[in-house]
Formats: sequence, structure tokens, C-alpha cells
Amino acid sequence: MTPRVFSGIQPTGNLHLGNYLGAIKRFVELQGEMECVYCVVDMHAITMPFEPAELDRNIREVTAAFLAAGIDPKAHIVFNQSQVKEHAELAWIFNCIARMGWLRRMTQFKEKAGKRAEEASVGVFAYPSLMAADILAYRATHVPVGEDQKQHLELTRDIAAKFNHDFSARISELGLGEDMEMGDETVRGYFPLTEPIIGGPAARVMSLRDGTKKMSKSDPSDLSRIVMTDDSDAIAKKFKKAKSDAEVLPETVEGLEGRPEADNLVGIYAALADTDRAAVLAEFGGQGFGAFKPALIELAVEKLAPINREMRKLMDDPAHIDAVLADGSQRARAIAEPILADVKAIVGFVGARG
Ligand code: TYM
Repeated sequence: MTPRVFSGIQPTGNLHLGNYLGAIKRFVELQGEMECVYCVVDMHAITMPFEPAELDRNIREVTAAFLAAGIDPKAHIVFNQSQVKEHAELAWIFNCIARMGWLRRMTQFKEKAGKRAEEASVGVFAYPSLMAADILAYRATHVPVGEDQKQHLELTRDIAAKFNHDFSARISELGLGEDMEMGDETVRGYFPLTEPIIGGPAARVMSLRDGTKKMSKSDPSDLSRIVMTDDSDAIAKKFKKAKSDAEVLPETVEGLEGRPEADNLVGIYAALADTDRAAVLAEFGGQGFGAFKPALIELAVEKLAPINREMRKLMDDPAHIDAVLADGSQRARAIAEPILADVKAIVGFVGARG
């Protein structure tokens, strides 16, 4: 199958350093390796309570972050999900492939629905089938994400495997798909079993106020996260106030164990400097946070301020952003349309292939 990268970000506001280091920065790096399709997943953003006027602003903000960080919307594809109807169509088919039990196990559903699952939207429950549809509407082979999305990607593989298995005979009959090794058997499959790309020092960036909690868009404390619209002063202030501990940094990575805040700040430094924790500790081991934090602030400002400036400039020109999304959507549709036509024919819908 043609190698292709797909990933998405929800336009839910407060785009933060975890989203940048765990996802967007890696999206930028992958552009040299494969064809990339990057999506602002606005249909996912309405699964939780939202304000329409904030939603359109947030869609443009995520797009601006993609462009400011260095994603090239001409060489690759940048678009918003709702402009390509194939996502919703495939999600419905996947709702009929995925099992209730599979979705009920999703930890993000449990976190979001909490104790009031009866009041959660049906969309929150079905969220992972739409995510699988995002990826498989392009038959994407690689998906870069932060660690918190790992379980959703496993579900995407489960859905692809069940589809391939259930419709294998029909896929062959129609002359579609490829032979794939699945366990001990070879199955004629249509969808790839997508590989997650997770890792590096920032796969899970933690809150600056509590090193045991993930940095998140919804944390009530603004000091818990650096957001991509923070200017240099805000970046400096938040790192100065970031929780640390009283000890010096260790010489080796093992020494970070049991020190979540130190581990997090060293990980952030490593990701910003394109290196790993061991290299950061080789430089700063034996020094306290009084020395390490100013170096971290200097590096963060150097790397993030230009992105922040460019994002502000782009946000002042919404017409340009909208044009990028319209063009990207058209090119995304050109890939997804024939795939959906195949899928509908595989399922047995009449009239699927025109
Ligand atoms: P979202 O919008 O919550 O987050 C976007 C990306 O940022 C990563 N991320 C983090 N990485 C490191 N540390 C953190 N603290 C942190 N917080 C968030 C996420 O892992 C993600 O890569 N369900 C997805 C959006 C989505 C998607 C897709 C992703 C919809 N369809 C298809 C990939 C492919 C989500 O809610 O991401």
C-alpha cells in the first residue's frame, strides 16, 4: 500500500506545548519522508459542549499553528474534516463494524463521560470510529500522535482487521485490496493495519504544575500549560513558576525516576533541542533548577517565539487560512472519494461506483 501519513488535531482551544512537541513538530519532520495529510478534526470537536463562534476561531488557530510550525500546504494536504463528507460516511460504516464492548473500553471515553455517561453525547462514545474513518478514508499507513492516542490507534487496527476479515471474499471478487498476513492466515484485505508513530522525549508532556498529570487543554490552571499563542514573557513566567524539586539534576536518565517534574522539564528541553534526555543530563547533570530553568526558558523562547509571531500574523488573515483549507479539502476529497466508492461496493451498496 502507498505509504501515507495522516494525523489530526481537535480545534478545542488552548493548543499547547504537548500538542506541539508530541504531534505538530513531528508532523513537520515527516514531510520529508512521505505524503502527509493533516486534518483539523472539527467534527470531533463537537462531541463535547462547544460554542460555534469559538469553534470557527479555533479551526483557524489550529490551521495557523500547522502553517507557522512549518507544514507546507502545497506539497502536502492541510484541511478541516467537515469539508470532506467521506469521513462521516466511513464513520457510519465503521460504527457497524466496531463492537459496543470495544468502544466501552476506551479510557478517553471513560475520562470524558466520567460518572455521568448517560448524559454524554452519542458522539463521544462513537468518537474512535470517526477517528478510524479519518485515517482509513486515506488508507493511511502511518499516524504520528502523542501517547494518549495509542489505544484509539489500536482500535483503528481492530476495525481495519475486522473489515478485511469479514469482507475478504468480496474484496477479492471485486479485484480490490492486497494479500495480507494476519496471524497465521493470509487475508485479502482492503485497509492497511496502520502503524502508530509514537515516541521521542515528548510523547507525553506533563502539566507544569503537577508532573503526574498530562498537560491538557482543559486543565483549569493556565499555569499548567504553555499555549502556542503565549509570547516570550508568558513562556518565561510559566517555566519560572513550573513545579520542580530541591535536588540537582541527576547524571543519568535512571536518576529521574520518582522525580516527575524534573523528568518532564528535561523531556521538554530534549524535545525542543532535538535530542534525548541522556544528552540533556550529560550537559546539566549536577546542576540545580536555578541554572537549568533559565537555559530551558532561553531555548523555549528561541524555538517557540517565531512560531508564535507567525501564528499571530496568519490569524490576522482569515481569508488566507480559509483558502488553504478549501484547497486542501478538495485535494483530500480526491483521495477519499474513490476509496469510499470501493468501500461501499465491498459492503454491497448499489450504485456505489457511479
Ligand atoms: P488532540 O486534539 O487531543 O491532541 C492532538 C495531538 O496532540 C497530542 N497530545 C500530546 N502529546 C504529548 N503530550 C501531551 N500532553 C499531549 N496532549 C495531546 C495527542 O496525542 C494528539 O496527537 N483524537 C485525537 C484527534 C484525532 C486524530 C485523528 C489523531 C482525530 N482523528 C486521526 C490522529 C489520527 C485527539 O483528540 O487529539
